[in-house]
Amino acid sequence: MISTSAPGKIILFGEHAVVYNRPALAAPLSGLRATASIEEATTTGAGLTIRAVDLDTTIRLQESAEHGLALMARLVLDRLGAAEPTITVTVESAIPIAGGLGSGAAVSAALGKALSAHLGAPLDAPALSELVYEVERFYHGTPSGIDNTVISYEKPVYFVRGRPPEVFSLGMPVQLLVADTGIPSPTHEAVGGVRARWQHERDRYEALFDRIAGIVDTARTVLEAGAVGQLGPLMTANQHELEAMGVSSPAIGRLVTAARSAGSLGAKLSGGGVGGNVIALVTAESADQVRAGLLAAGAVAVYQTTIGEG
Ligand code: MEV
Repeated sequence: MISTSAPGKIILFGEHAVVYNRPALAAPLSGLRATASIEEATTTGAGLTIRAVDLDTTIRLQESAEHGLALMARLVLDRLGAAEPTITVTVESAIPIAGGLGSGAAVSAALGKALSAHLGAPLDAPALSELVYEVERFYHGTPSGIDNTVISYEKPVYFVRGRPPEVFSLGMPVQLLVADTGIPSPTHEAVGGVRARWQHERDRYEALFDRIAGIVDTARTVLEAGAVGQLGPLMTANQHELEAMGVSSPAIGRLVTAARSAGSLGAKLSGGGVGGNVIALVTAESADQVRAGLLAAGAVAVYQTTIGEG
């Protein structure tokens, strides 16, 4: 049986501004993954069937015009010039849905990997990313392309819309806690809100995006140099710009403040914001205390991740 997986993602710096052609930094969330496994279909009939366990949905490719997973399967078949096989693909994900952690892109990527492997032509990262981007467009309208990129490459990336992604290495591992507000926040709504406000206040928003671009470029240098001590204030500065952009919220603010009070060196929302997740920079010594502070402040789940290992 073929079984593949793809990680979730966190945006380290630059969310939202990246939609407006500024740079952003993202990293895979290797411990939180979506999986896809393939069985030869015996009971489901001819053609390709997708069982989306978390959505409690079964999709038959021949009947389903309007589902992102069906679109992903069709894109893979078209790309490979393959006929529809008679198989069942089961997809499931440990990544919270609508939490800004790339759950949709990860499920599409896992499906694309499994199906292309089954057809004997596994897609490489650029091809997979391109197809997942098409599905992201179907869901989100105007995605920057950063989610599909980091999830397909599974490496930290410096991303500017329309340019080839730059995979980069960290000078030393960075430990983060990812704390879930428990408030679902579909990315397209947060992105739509920013667009509406940008249309009314273009100059203010363009200036905000420029300041974030400056933070992103500094953060890349700091990460590559392994100067983790300088990272926290940059995260806090990015959070302030996101607040000014109107994508923070009381729940996010509570988690950011709690993380800082418990010893985190810097914290910010990650992804679309409004609800979703907060990332907090920790050390081996501070991690337990910051985790406890986040849970006490209302986080419904806290994941630990290390980026730049190995
Ligand atoms: C979502 O992970 C990041 C946003 O910048 C949207 C996008 O880049 O498409 C909010």
